[in-house]
Amino acid sequence: MRLSEYFSMNKTIVEAKLDNLIQSQADIPVIHNAMKYSLLAGGKRLRPILTIMASSLFDGNVDEVMPFACSLEMIHTYSLIHDDLPAMDNDDYRRGKLTNHKVFGEGFAILAGDALLNMAFEIMHQALIDNPKLENIKAAAYISKASGTQGMIGGQCIDLYYEGKCIDLNVLNAMHDKKTGALIRASLVAGALISGAKDEDVKRLEKFGQLIGLAFQISDDILDVEGSTEKLGKLTGSDANNNKSTFVSYYGLAKSKEMARDIIEEAQNIIGFYGDKGLLLKELSNYIIERDI
Ligand code: IPE
Ligand code: IPE
Ligand code: MG
Ligand code: MG
Ligand code: MG
Repeated sequence: MRLSEYFSMNKTIVEAKLDNLIQSQADIPVIHNAMKYSLLAGGKRLRPILTIMASSLFDGNVDEVMPFACSLEMIHTYSLIHDDLPAMDNDDYRRGKLTNHKVFGEGFAILAGDALLNMAFEIMHQALIDNPKLENIKAAAYISKASGTQGMIGGQCIDLYYEGKCIDLNVLNAMHDKKTGALIRASLVAGALISGAKDEDVKRLEKFGQLIGLAFQISDDILDVEGSTEKLGKLTGSDANNNKSTFVSYYGLAKSKEMARDIIEEAQNIIGFYGDKGLLLKELSNYIIERDI
């Protein structure tokens, strides 16, 4: 199966599941509407699809990874709602629509983000109650760590702190590794762990995730400069407006593209270990840097 077919098929499955899960939080309409607005607004669904892909690499069961895949998308969506707030990147458009705070106000946008984060943990815990396998507990622990100060939030802190400041190369790498790499890595590792991958396989997927995560954020930085607002569904030029430290501000466009390509080549060498079984992940790694959305 080609990557585009695989993507659209799994996107439909994941979105139906997200829709179903969000219905369970329908008790307070004002917060429910705000959560649903961003969660079902579209988006590539890259993280849940990575979890599903990693799971199939080890012949896992899609139903078993699905709660974790959906939790990752909820955590990611919450991070986007908060990332767009005036106190952070102050962006007005996301996923082709007005940002959450533009529609519901800052207070409810903050609460909708918090609620999506909590819902993700509720769903993972329910999945663990249903099937308390050690590997699943390890997957939940990995996702928890990747979302916090040692992962996504830590990266967002570096991002915010270095607005308008001179950044060191090690810090720039750490920022991208945490703010974007951590959840991408967690998506792959969770899928692998739940599906019974051996330690060395989990490590391989973790390294692959680290590399494609870094390339993904470099490409996000590039798209913020030369991408199309219409295709991306968010306004370009946000990083320059906020004096962000990015790969593009540090290296320029040409060098950033070259680096992203080298990183993806390294990732492909790692996934090459799986031969034909790893072909979709290999194709996906090309997409990470060739995408225009
Ligand atoms: C945007 O993520 C924020 C980053 C971590 C770079 P995506 O580009 O995956 O956004 P959606 O989910 O497709 O909207
Ligand atoms: C955001 O990075 C990473 C997150 C953890 C949300 P950006 O701020 O560059 O993401 P976009 O460009 O707004 O999607
Ligand atoms: Mg940001
Ligand atoms: Mg942003
Ligand atoms: Mg960006």
